[in-house]
Amino acid sequence: MLSNIKTVGRLWHKVLSRSLQTSSVLQHDSLFVHRDTPEDNPDVSFEFTPENEKRAEAILAIYPEGHKRAAMIPLLDLAQRQHGWLPISAMHKVADILELPRMRVYEVATFYTMFIRRPIGKYHLQVCTTTPCWLRGSDDILNTIKNKLGIEVGGTTPDCMFSLSEVECLGACVNAPMIQINDDYYEDLTCQDTEEILNELKCGNKPRAGPRNGRFAAEPLGEPTSLKSEPPGPGFGIRSDL
Ligand code: FES
Repeated sequence: MLSNIKTVGRLWHKVLSRSLQTSSVLQHDSLFVHRDTPEDNPDVSFEFTPENEKRAEAILAIYPEGHKRAAMIPLLDLAQRQHGWLPISAMHKVADILELPRMRVYEVATFYTMFIRRPIGKYHLQVCTTTPCWLRGSDDILNTIKNKLGIEVGGTTPDCMFSLSEVECLGACVNAPMIQINDDYYEDLTCQDTEEILNELKCGNKPRAGPRNGRFAAEPLGEPTSLKSEPPGPGFGIRSDL
């Protein structure tokens, strides 16, 4: 009996002393819950401008009666474009327009990272650091931005010109590494390209979007590597006895 207890004790000691492995804690620069702040609380009023009210009506007109809630994402996007980011009072406005419980809007606005729920700089730099971009040097791009602007991920420069975020794949892996700045993609980047883009933005210019290595889009570098011969005509590959 005593030996059994000793054996169990030794086993527990082994289990407890074994070093446990855990993956690193997932990090993101925005909270997925709302916290009232002076600039973002339900008492701060939000109204669409007269021009955007017309746009909202045009958006709503696309959807048939009974399906107006499908206009939620375009309306939230419109509110964000007007305000620069998406305050909770804008979510309430959208809920009122769509005659939905506010919770339905919170669910959407907190799920999609395209909705920015905190004050943000004029230029939102979103650096993709997912595997293809990472293999192509996204860490260097991120560090270049951090060093040049003196901010960390989640930070905004004191002049409110630039905010920096680290994001997952933006769907431009073939042009890795890349960053999204507001609505534009800047692709095939080197550290020098990144510095040039930031310098241009600082001077008030709009840098040319797209690939920076001479490519027009996502074609192979140099010459085509596939689909080089004339396409076969109808019937290609079909059995001769058919
Ligand atoms: S991994 Fe960066 S765009 Fe896909």
